[in-house]
Amino acid sequence: MPEWQALARHRERLGEVRLRELFDADARRAERYGVQVGDLHLDYSKHLVNDETLALLRQLAEAADVAGLRDAMFRGDKINVTERRAVLHTALRAPRDAVIEVDGENVVPGVHAVLDRMSDFAAQVRDGGWTGHTGARIRTVVNIGIGGSDLGPAMAYEALRPYARRDMDFRFVSNVDGADLHEALHGLDAAETLFIVASKTFTTIETITNATSAKNWLLDALGDGDAPADDSAVARHFVALSTNGPEVAKFGIDTANMFEFWDWVGGRYSFDSAIGLSLMIAIGPDRFRELLDGFHLVDEHFRTAPPEANAPLLLGLLGVWYGGFFDAQSHAVLPYSHYLSKFTAYLQQLDMESNGKSVDRAGRPVAWQTGPVVWGTPGTNGQHAYYQLLHQGTRMIPADLIGFARPVDELGPELAAQHDLLMANLFAQGQALAFGKTAEEVRAEGVAEEQVPHRTFDGNHPTTTVLAAELSPSVLGQLIALYEHKVFVQGAVWDIDSFDQWGVELGKVLAKRVEPALTEGAAVAGLDASTTALVARYRRLRGR
Ligand code: F6P
Repeated sequence: MPEWQALARHRERLGEVRLRELFDADARRAERYGVQVGDLHLDYSKHLVNDETLALLRQLAEAADVAGLRDAMFRGDKINVTERRAVLHTALRAPRDAVIEVDGENVVPGVHAVLDRMSDFAAQVRDGGWTGHTGARIRTVVNIGIGGSDLGPAMAYEALRPYARRDMDFRFVSNVDGADLHEALHGLDAAETLFIVASKTFTTIETITNATSAKNWLLDALGDGDAPADDSAVARHFVALSTNGPEVAKFGIDTANMFEFWDWVGGRYSFDSAIGLSLMIAIGPDRFRELLDGFHLVDEHFRTAPPEANAPLLLGLLGVWYGGFFDAQSHAVLPYSHYLSKFTAYLQQLDMESNGKSVDRAGRPVAWQTGPVVWGTPGTNGQHAYYQLLHQGTRMIPADLIGFARPVDELGPELAAQHDLLMANLFAQGQALAFGKTAEEVRAEGVAEEQVPHRTFDGNHPTTTVLAAELSPSVLGQLIALYEHKVFVQGAVWDIDSFDQWGVELGKVLAKRVEPALTEGAAVAGLDASTTALVARYRRLRGR
């Protein structure tokens, strides 16, 4: 595209652009390069861009018709081209009176009907109205799911712990490694345990395997010692979240205990559908609706804000800039909040499963970089582990620093006082990454000349700082929607289908094919020499 070429020329002209110089040249840069969306303040002044860069990036977005595709998504057009599906996670948080049609049918009433059923159920579990098979109150909720059916609720439960019931326990099982379920069940009383089996397709082998084992554990535990309990116990202890009623019934869960969603909700975009039930039980229906309102607020911002002030558009384009013109390979997300300890793992699926593509929407190989590797853990832990590479390594790694002004109320005065130290670290890192420390500054401290190169910080590492007053349910919703739409913008510019995930299929098929070789020593056609030898060694090690 000419707009891409224009950016390439601009990049050449910018040459070794320095953040120090950009700030020196514009006293108002921090103020001008900031945007407010809902409760989130975004400072993008520490990026290697000037007004011309931003204008050229917006022109690229216009040429790629990001706004057109965005409107098509919100309208319910089938923009997931390879699966011929609408992409309507935004409908999951639309107000009751909204009208959004898929194949001529308004989907909003169905969304709210399920939300209402979830709210009823969550309220019953929370107040003890819903009891287990023996009449005992539910004390523990175990969500069994993987990918989008796990990461969202698990992340949000951690994020919103201060809003969650402290007298109930919430556990999340995803890995087909039996150790995951084993540890999750440790110490549990089956009579007080509710299993939520979360799977859009209800065919995901990890989830169905774990759910089957959980069912057997429950029936054994509720039995009389000689015989397991009969299947009627399942109805009080298992609910399903799925789009697939027949498979739910086949598994043995009454579809009366199923909370549905729809094929126009992608797995990694499903957390505010029925998939959020465990979180809703934890924080209560009202707080859950505040979370949805937070999502909706950013949806509306993305849909209506002008390009210059459109936060997801800006973040998306900045990523396109670094991937396309600085050869940046990865993007770090560094939350300065213990509660966001699972946030980056959640974003990994959102971003990498969406934009880890190498053909365009028409199936032609792309000639540009697509989605980056997304990684990161909460500060300040990362500072004492891998930040060395961020500061003095050879790679360009743009990063997001996310922080909150207020610690949660329940910390108490002493722990709350630590919050300033936490946030001082966030601000210090943003500054150090951007401006570094010159050799002259190091020398001025009297450092011996041979040490100077080792103690010099080049700086010029771009960051976005996201700051909000506190991590409330609404703010969490706003943050997630911000990233969802950022990923959307990038997919649109790169002209890829951000809503399919064919890349996960091959491994699934091969695992099914290889398993009999492990268990029975079966000869499996098509195994390569390396894998055949590894399987043989595995079997020997297992004494088979
Ligand atoms: O294998 C990838 C994937 O399909 C993800 O996209 C999805 O979130 C996950 O598996 C779980 O799928 P399901 O909810 O159908 O069990």
